[in-house]
Amino acid sequence: MNTIELAKGVYYVGAVDWNQRDFHGYYTPRGVTYNSYLIVDEKICLIDTVKAPFTNELLERIRQIVDPAKIDYVVVNHVEPDHSGALPAIMEHAPNAKVILTANGRTETIKHYQREYDFQVVKEGDILSLGKNSLHFIPLPMLHWPDSMASYLDGHQILFSNDAFGQHICTSSPFDDQNDIHDILYEAAKYYANILMPYSKLVGRALSKVEGIPVKQIAPSHGVVWRSHINKIIEKYAAWGQGVTCDKVVVIYDALWGSTEQMARRILDGVAAGGVQVKLFKITNTPLSELAVEILEARGLLFGSPTHNNGMMATMGGVMTYLQGLRPINKIAATFGAFGWGGGAEQAMVEALGKAGIKAEEPGFTLKWVPDETELDACFSFGLDFAQKVLAAGK
Ligand code: FEO
Repeated sequence: MNTIELAKGVYYVGAVDWNQRDFHGYYTPRGVTYNSYLIVDEKICLIDTVKAPFTNELLERIRQIVDPAKIDYVVVNHVEPDHSGALPAIMEHAPNAKVILTANGRTETIKHYQREYDFQVVKEGDILSLGKNSLHFIPLPMLHWPDSMASYLDGHQILFSNDAFGQHICTSSPFDDQNDIHDILYEAAKYYANILMPYSKLVGRALSKVEGIPVKQIAPSHGVVWRSHINKIIEKYAAWGQGVTCDKVVVIYDALWGSTEQMARRILDGVAAGGVQVKLFKITNTPLSELAVEILEARGLLFGSPTHNNGMMATMGGVMTYLQGLRPINKIAATFGAFGWGGGAEQAMVEALGKAGIKAEEPGFTLKWVPDETELDACFSFGLDFAQKVLAAGK
């Protein structure tokens, strides 16, 4: 197990979960890391821990640098168990350590682990001297839990941002510039879309808290450390927080006997003919977390479901439930689908989108049973019209 030094006396001691493919429902084809950092100054400070099953990996990395019993402080930037799961074990090995966290973090830690530690509650602007360097605490409530906090190490100018700026990707090289930056930015976007999108309104305020602070590295709790593309990821967060979109349409559908699938493909042709980038996803072939990242920057969303039991397909209901949690902003949407003797899917989708804060264009496009050539031409026109609306909204 290699020891990785980010700066003099600052080490990566986290765990790499190469085979994790499901992070509480979030599909993670590139695995997950649980980043923990050790600062060795006059005082010794551990920033976050790891998921409980990886406790030994964390301890082994720490032992390569110091005896865990010498740890003076454990900073809990976030209580979610992927970061605090190893806390009880660490506190057994570091019995003299103070646990540094927000007031919400204290409450949550006690409830998660049913025990008290030597807590030191911090708030905005508090500073903890470690010797040559100090830690400055920046609470970021609801990004994405009430307890969430970032910690800034002056001197080395490292921002330990916890979940913010994270990515679910395992690599053998810890820095952004040692990896394919397109992969890293894609995973950062996917992470934002699935974890932080519901709290987008808070992102601008959070960014203003770190504006003006000199940062040489952003060390998140998942994925690689940013050092060469800091401006790029901050720019991306600012854009995602504001709901900036591009000329892109995502078609999301499911089908029973193929009619709605035929419609989806002809609508896609129409959107593409309108000069807009368009991607098509069948729900049953695509994890929700993959749909979320496609939706993040898309301006146009098209949802297709045939009528099933007087409503939308249950699979589309799952997509709608997910969207109602994420609440994407600045979207144009419409629905389509086939029906037999009576409709219902369109109304169900429009209502569900409304609960996600998305007003669908009405009417959508529906047809009976199986599309004929005239109706397929109409699907093409529907897609073409939708593309024009998407382009117009971007001007
Ligand atoms: Fe990576 Fe919110 O935990």
